[in-house]
Amino acid sequence: MSNIRAVIKGVGGYVPEYILTNQELETMIETNDEWITSRTGIKERRILKGDGAGTSAMVIKAVKELIEKTNTNPADLDFIICSTITPDFMCPVTSNLICDMIGAKKAFSFDLMAACSGFLYVLATGTNFIESGRFKKGIVIGGDKMSSIVNYKDRNTCILFGDGAGCALLEAEENSEYGIIDMAMRTDGSGLPYLNIKGGGSRLPASEYTTDNHDKYFIFQEGATVFKTAVTRMADISAEIMKRNNLKGEDIQWLVPHQANKRIIDATADRMGIGPEKITMNIERYGNTTNGTIPLCFWDYEKQFKKGDNIVLAAFGGGFTWGSMYLKWAYNS
Ligand code: UT7
Repeated sequence: MSNIRAVIKGVGGYVPEYILTNQELETMIETNDEWITSRTGIKERRILKGDGAGTSAMVIKAVKELIEKTNTNPADLDFIICSTITPDFMCPVTSNLICDMIGAKKAFSFDLMAACSGFLYVLATGTNFIESGRFKKGIVIGGDKMSSIVNYKDRNTCILFGDGAGCALLEAEENSEYGIIDMAMRTDGSGLPYLNIKGGGSRLPASEYTTDNHDKYFIFQEGATVFKTAVTRMADISAEIMKRNNLKGEDIQWLVPHQANKRIIDATADRMGIGPEKITMNIERYGNTTNGTIPLCFWDYEKQFKKGDNIVLAAFGGGFTWGSMYLKWAYNS
């Protein structure tokens, strides 16, 4: 292993102003606040309004906040990687647009897709670029405009998702005790029937299908199967990371889980021996922002994280993809 650690030096975030409450959803579909709250933990979610506004409209706000807070010169960045399943365009991808908007002239950039596990995967990718010794500084991003792929007539999915984006600055530090320490990631592609967006790719190209097959462009989920798989796999992989690093529940200051369902989060924490006071939770305000959930938790809890805190991340999403990461927080804010 290299003696270079990838260390998180700052975080940024953005959620749109418009709040879609459970009460408003009650006027749109056959549902009620009590059902949504008890089954998911969600009370409201944010929606990006405005013609022509894509995911980059949120990402740029998060990234600008981050570079200001950390006093980063965009010209010093080596890379920008964005995880999203709702890029503004298929080409050029969202991170390319961000490079241009902030003037990151020497950075390379690309988007990465791993559904709701995406932020974990970009953090892992950025970490490995830095640990290689070739690159010193980069921004990893997770964000989605889920409202662009949600069918607001489908009560199985439209209550779950919201829009938002977050990001983190990664820097190289030699012989540091802080930063990303360990990671475990898995994929099981047999999850296709249970969570998918079938239209818009090369099998069902947008050019042929847009007019007659609207439903193919919306997210589809068979909730119960995804729920059962998510509970087991998120808990199993987090237990694996803890075992490998000799961590007990009491050694961990924070669990930062993907925010898909409060019941999945509680089950994962239970298995890890972690009490509710150590879980970052914002699902009640933002719903599931897909790639945005983990960086938005960083953003919301940054002031509570302390230098040296042991933090475990856990995610599960379409694919299926899932994973867990162990890091030591590097600063007080
Ligand atoms: O982030 C990516 C990974 N995604 C996840 O991890 C999500 C995993 N899945 C879940 O979070 C849950 O499965 C849901 C919250 C999506 C659904 O909860 P559930 O407890 O699994 O409910 P269900 O789908 O089994 O549906 C139970 C009942 C059904 O009625 P019947 O058939 O029992 O009469 C549904 O039709 O609830 C009904 N239902 C609703 N009722 C009121 C489904 N959606 C709604 C709704 N309002 N919005």
